[in-house]
Amino acid sequence: MIAKVRGSAVAAATCFPEVASVRVWHSACGFTTPPIRLFTGSAGTASWQYTHGQKAEPTLNKKQWQLLSVVLVVAFFSLAGIIQAQFLAKDPGPRGDPAGAGVPYAALTSDELEMFDAGRKEFAEEDGLDEGLGPRFNFVSCGGCHSQPDVGGTSPAMNPLFRVVGDLGFGAGNVVPSFITPDGPIKEARFQYNPNGTRDGGVHALFVIAGHPDAVGCTIQQANFERQILNNNIIFRIPTPIFGAGLIEQISDSTIVANLAGNPFAKRILGISGRPNRNGNDGRIARFGWKAQNQSLLLFSGEAYNVEMGITNELFPIERDETGTCQFAMVPNNVTPSIRQLSAIENFANFQRFLAPPTPVSSFGRASSFSVSRGRQRFTEVGCALCHTPALKTDNSSVAALRYQNVNLFSDLALHGMGPGLADDILQGAARGDEFRTSPLWGLGQRIFFLHDGRTNDLLEAIRAHGSAGNLKFGPSEANAVIDRFNGLGEGDKQDLLNFLRSL
Ligand code: HEC
Ligand code: HEC
Repeated sequence: MIAKVRGSAVAAATCFPEVASVRVWHSACGFTTPPIRLFTGSAGTASWQYTHGQKAEPTLNKKQWQLLSVVLVVAFFSLAGIIQAQFLAKDPGPRGDPAGAGVPYAALTSDELEMFDAGRKEFAEEDGLDEGLGPRFNFVSCGGCHSQPDVGGTSPAMNPLFRVVGDLGFGAGNVVPSFITPDGPIKEARFQYNPNGTRDGGVHALFVIAGHPDAVGCTIQQANFERQILNNNIIFRIPTPIFGAGLIEQISDSTIVANLAGNPFAKRILGISGRPNRNGNDGRIARFGWKAQNQSLLLFSGEAYNVEMGITNELFPIERDETGTCQFAMVPNNVTPSIRQLSAIENFANFQRFLAPPTPVSSFGRASSFSVSRGRQRFTEVGCALCHTPALKTDNSSVAALRYQNVNLFSDLALHGMGPGLADDILQGAARGDEFRTSPLWGLGQRIFFLHDGRTNDLLEAIRAHGSAGNLKFGPSEANAVIDRFNGLGEGDKQDLLNFLRSL
């Protein structure tokens, strides 16, 4: 009987006196020996021979000893190989348990809870042309893009953007661009340069309202994304989750700066620096979005309403596409209607502000609490935590639930140079083309797509993508030394680390 063990060695045992028949394969050189049978003689001394039935010699001659020692050495190395290759660390995948996010803070006042409820409703609501949708837009509701594992999250497993040409009725004027796939992430597109070579960098909405039964007289054309793909002039961003965003908003600039200055020795040795993305006018630290480009939830909401849905508002009052025949609502499309009522963007901001962070678990599936807590230690030891700061504290806040709280976000909210591998060549505020905000990792356990462009749904690939040598345009990734240390971990340690990430 010859059994294959994990593709790296073949070993089998037969009955006495042939103790074992071993075929040794060494993974490094790919060499396989012929089957070698080991025997125990009647006196208990080890002897061996190539063929069955031949009488065993009680002692070994010099040549036999040499051959035996070669076999033992090869066997030793391949045994080490077997032990190492016994399993390879693997991302356990999104946790299947009920959503650990999407609820308000337990400690809200009744007024705050009311604001949360009204905000959540507005956030999930689908808007039409009479509410100002378009002329160009990415989707019809905030909640459609921010939905995994619950309202406020990120891209779901099934891409909702196909609904635009389906039940939402925009099929006549639009095709779904090739980079949007049914089981891929929601992506928004930016073009890096204008045709004349100057920088663009802005979001180009995927769809137009032209062709919709309500858009009579509007004839604008959908942007030609396939040409931009051919020109290599397009990059993608997936939605970031908003759970716990109110806490992130309340972390003071001095806390962010002090945290960046912490662990200077370890950071210097590992080549980690990092810097905040400061707003050009008031000098405060922006912290929302993949490049930490926005300072507040109200600002992000106003911008998203205009950029994602084409709905102008008090913060972004001018239409991005001013084609006169394509306006079907007053401009700005959504404003504060009276002193007794909030506008949509205030409602969105309230929902996000009162939306609690995801709840981590101590164990799940095959990941024991022992493994999860070991993984957390490895996360710190290899240096992930030098960028992904486990906790920052909020300062004073008008909202009691947000006041002096520990924020377990796993981010320093700062920008880091990630090298050419991740660079998107888009400038935002102070952020260079290869700089990104350290992604907050809370909620990772129930997320499907990772990194700014959603290039992977595998945590191991997301980690490996941090490593990147420099080129003529961008320097090497600040994470290189940490990723080398991660790669140097044993498979068991890597598994613990992955289990820890999926517990968040
Ligand atoms: C078409 C999909 C889509 C829609 C619709 C959408 N978003 Fe987003 N959202 C995104 C993407 C993509 C990002 C990341 C943008 C970036 O950083 O470049 C994002 C990021 C955000 C963030 C930043 C969170 C953080 O911590 O980084 C907030 C806040 C936000 N969106 C609010 C909203 C609101 C409010 C609406 C509705 C008005 C909305 N979004 C509609 C795709 C969408
Ligand atoms: C130099 C700072 C730095 C270090 C060190 C670092 N990261 Fe990151 N991490 C980032 C940045 C920046 C991003 C966002 C990159 C992007 O989307 O292009 C990120 C993204 C991620 C993501 C994807 C999250 C998401 O929102 O899609 C995971 C998972 C992650 N890091 C885990 C780790 C682990 C595990 C380690 C340690 C082995 C580590 N990181 C070390 C800066 C760092």
